[in-house]
Amino acid sequence: QTETNHGGPKEEESLTSRLPTREGWWKPFFLFQGFWFTPQMVRSTVLVQAQFRPRADDIILATYPKCGTTWLKALAFTVAHRSQHPVASHGHPVLTSHPQDLVPFLELPHRELHPIEELEALPSPRLLSTHLPCTSLPSGASTLGCRIVYLCREPKDVLVSMWHYTNKVRKDFHIDLGKAFEFFCEGVSLGGPFWEHCLGYWKWSMEEPGRVLFLKYDEMMANPAEHVKMLAEFLGVPFTEEEESAGVVEEVVRLCSFENLKSLPVNSTGVSDRVGGLPMENASFFRSGKVGDWKNHLTEEMARKLDCIVEEKLKGSGLSF
Ligand code: A3P
Repeated sequence: QTETNHGGPKEEESLTSRLPTREGWWKPFFLFQGFWFTPQMVRSTVLVQAQFRPRADDIILATYPKCGTTWLKALAFTVAHRSQHPVASHGHPVLTSHPQDLVPFLELPHRELHPIEELEALPSPRLLSTHLPCTSLPSGASTLGCRIVYLCREPKDVLVSMWHYTNKVRKDFHIDLGKAFEFFCEGVSLGGPFWEHCLGYWKWSMEEPGRVLFLKYDEMMANPAEHVKMLAEFLGVPFTEEEESAGVVEEVVRLCSFENLKSLPVNSTGVSDRVGGLPMENASFFRSGKVGDWKNHLTEEMARKLDCIVEEKLKGSGLSF
């Protein structure tokens, strides 16, 4: 173990002491490499950048938090490993493991820092995940040619999902929606500004479409089967005609559907500490799973304001929500 692994809060303090800071959602956030992070995230990002060694055949599932990471992990794992784990098999890993545990994060846990060796020990091709903005990925990820699947989501739904989740998992803390909304609009959210996160991967996907597959939660919800096929193609394991006619694509969709995942005991019960020092209910990753749930929470005025900000920020990029 290196010194870094023992650093803890003291090291966080020295890493963040010169960074711009401001009130965050539940504790101060720091502006690190252009994005708002907690001190733990800064420390773990620094570690990943220094020590993680990407491989050319790595596949990285990248998301802004609350954009459907859990769903994408389940889908990508199921599609990529279907020769080893037939989709309809009784002992399928999706039935017995939380999707968050099927694909490890590069930068998590924060507190008990990842022995990076655990990631090194995974056989190739590795399926990994990250919430890091593309500019903060370890440099090898772009030079070596790793493939990236990026999933984003309609910003008002992201805000509402993040607000619920933050209040649910941080038991000693509550932020009201008005305040979370103001922060989000200013770009101050975990890993935010949200639009900068999306734009980075969007531009990369425009430059290198074979390297970066850019997906939207809302479109995936509208047509999951098409997206599962697209994902399989991109991962280099397209569905055969036999598989398609046997209904394997639909089986993947059903296995990984919100209703199915939410109902599984491994996802609906129990508590796990994946971040390090923050045990949370496994069920916290499955709330309503709907497109447009923001309508139940935001006023028309709030919606208009956030829409205008996002539209302005994305202007000319070709990306819209
Ligand atoms: P809501 O809070 O709007 O319900 P992440 O996995 O990135 O943390 O995102 C969590 C969001 O994805 C939550 O949104 C959650 O309910 C939703 N979600 C989880 N599993 C899903 C699935 N299989 N299909 C669609 N949405 C899912």
